[in-house]
Amino acid sequence: MGTYKEFHKRSITQREAFWNEQAALVDWHKPFAKVLDYSRPPFARWFVGGETNLCHNAIDRHLAERGGQQALVYISTETGQQTSYTFRELHAEVNRCAAMIRAQGVAKGDRVLIYMPMIPEAVFAMLACARLGAIHSVVFGGFASHSLAARIDDARPKLMMTADGGMRGGKSILYKPLVDAAVRLAQYPPHKVIIFNRGLDPAMAIISGRDLDYAALREQHMDAQVPVTWLESNEPSYILYTSGTTGQPKGVQRDTGGYAVALAASMKHIYCGQPGEAMFTTSDIGWVVGHSYIVYGPLIYGMTTVMYEGLPIRPDAGIWWKIVADNKVTVMFSSPTAARVLKKQDPAYLKKYDLSSLRHLFLAGEPLDEPTHRWIADALGKPVIDHYWQTETGWPILSAVLGVEQTPLKFGTPSFPVYGYDLQLLRESDAGEAGANEKGVVAIVPPLPPGCMTTVWGDDERFVQTYFTGFRDKLVYSTFDWGIRDAEGYHFILGRTDDVINVAGHRLGTREIEEAVQAHSNIAEVAVVGVADALKGQMPLAFAVVKDSAMIATPQLKAAHEKEVMDTVDRQIGAIARPSRVHFVTLLPKTRSGKLLRRSIQALAEGRDPGDLTTIEDPSALDQIRAALATR
Ligand code: PRX
Repeated sequence: MGTYKEFHKRSITQREAFWNEQAALVDWHKPFAKVLDYSRPPFARWFVGGETNLCHNAIDRHLAERGGQQALVYISTETGQQTSYTFRELHAEVNRCAAMIRAQGVAKGDRVLIYMPMIPEAVFAMLACARLGAIHSVVFGGFASHSLAARIDDARPKLMMTADGGMRGGKSILYKPLVDAAVRLAQYPPHKVIIFNRGLDPAMAIISGRDLDYAALREQHMDAQVPVTWLESNEPSYILYTSGTTGQPKGVQRDTGGYAVALAASMKHIYCGQPGEAMFTTSDIGWVVGHSYIVYGPLIYGMTTVMYEGLPIRPDAGIWWKIVADNKVTVMFSSPTAARVLKKQDPAYLKKYDLSSLRHLFLAGEPLDEPTHRWIADALGKPVIDHYWQTETGWPILSAVLGVEQTPLKFGTPSFPVYGYDLQLLRESDAGEAGANEKGVVAIVPPLPPGCMTTVWGDDERFVQTYFTGFRDKLVYSTFDWGIRDAEGYHFILGRTDDVINVAGHRLGTREIEEAVQAHSNIAEVAVVGVADALKGQMPLAFAVVKDSAMIATPQLKAAHEKEVMDTVDRQIGAIARPSRVHFVTLLPKTRSGKLLRRSIQALAEGRDPGDLTTIEDPSALDQIRAALATR
């Protein structure tokens, strides 16, 4: 492993020289004066004084050499639409979109909230914001009005961009009513809303003076040429909200130059792509994987990005492999849940198409169990690379780095710390480094490498408090994941140290779901835990105490009440956070100081020992949990 080890070592010991070399992978309008300014730990400023732009790097700089090459291939098995855009065509669309955004008074530093389904216009909107130096905040289309309103109030966008609806499994999911409700709920609503009308909602209500039609605005700006707004490397490119321990999601703020360099370097060293080839990432633009590897990463590297709206098994379980074959995809990126879904289908689908173009399949977002890893690698006959990262980092923390060295892959592990990350596994007790095969908290010694979050939007203090104060006397970034390293240096991720749960790769906070459950007027108290699920990794499970027990007096009433509570979660956060069950109890297990014993509840729900219960206030509370679980 000599080479990769050396590569990684150099990235830590000769940090500035290392990243100075990587910075040559992108275009700089003005060269940077300093690679790293780390004068105010833990805040790192990369490529100080350099001026660049993400949209320029993703589109404009490729025009001369690859203007006629496909930049974006769009396939929807929901609507049957298939379109593609060359870099030149993408450039024209993004200019039109930038012009319409600019016409609404949006300028550098202003926020634009994008709440859109998987349609090309969502990509145009993101790149148009980047072109103008406006800060986009993309909110996943599965989030409901309450969650959307919370994000509006935190980001305070001048403009919102949405569509009439999304589609899933042949059904349309209307967005516009959710947007209207969120704007009504918000304290700081945007003045204008641009709507891309897909024709899914013939009865769509338009609020005159506020709502604008994307197609009509596009017509007005057909020949627009919007100059790139050059940004100092550390100026923000976007905000992306993510869940943590509290009920209030954090706005992960990303810079410009560091992100461009980190993505370009990852395309080369980790994903082993080549300019001119195609990458297919099956995520959604509302998640970090979509930001980094549907939109910015492949385009910055001069690759074609394939964007897909639809399910992995519709019209049949061969659809993804057909897309790979049709587009000669060389790099594919998906999730462990998707692999588990495919595992249940006829394996013949994996052999039906010519997959000779495909070099690697990358999986991330949640733990990849060894049997699924083995199955998909065997079925595809290709290397399948488990890699580990977070919204906060924006690009991989642990991975095989095959562009540097072909290290052997082991099933069930995301291999090694990626270059740039000074990763340690720390014992919780004394912050000392855990030895081989000893569990520790996955921590990164700052400065964080380029591309990682630079702060929490509008709240530097929260950034430091949340991520850097886990260990007394030691300034380290905590990932809030447990990890372990074997004797050969391979790492395994064992799960979160906090109350974050992961449902089919979607990161959710148990506090957020509890608050949503409590929005139901008859709920006095609730505990939500993540419980292991064979398909989705984890599922939320709720135990609630009602105010008026008459409402659950009979089994019928109880069932109806359970459904009402679930519907409340759908309305507040979205169906992705809907608990698999809501059990009603009269008491929740707590410590004498009133802290919920979520770990014990989770252990019981997973059939494990509830652990140390010496601090529990009333042990009968656990009996109620046991009894409730027995009714499943
Ligand atoms: O718990 C880890 C899990 O997902 C979390 C980050 O989720 P998110 O912010 O949505 O970013 C996903 C980016 C791919 C992590 O803290 N996680 C992510 N990848 C893996 C993983 N757990 C185990 N193995 C992985 N490969």
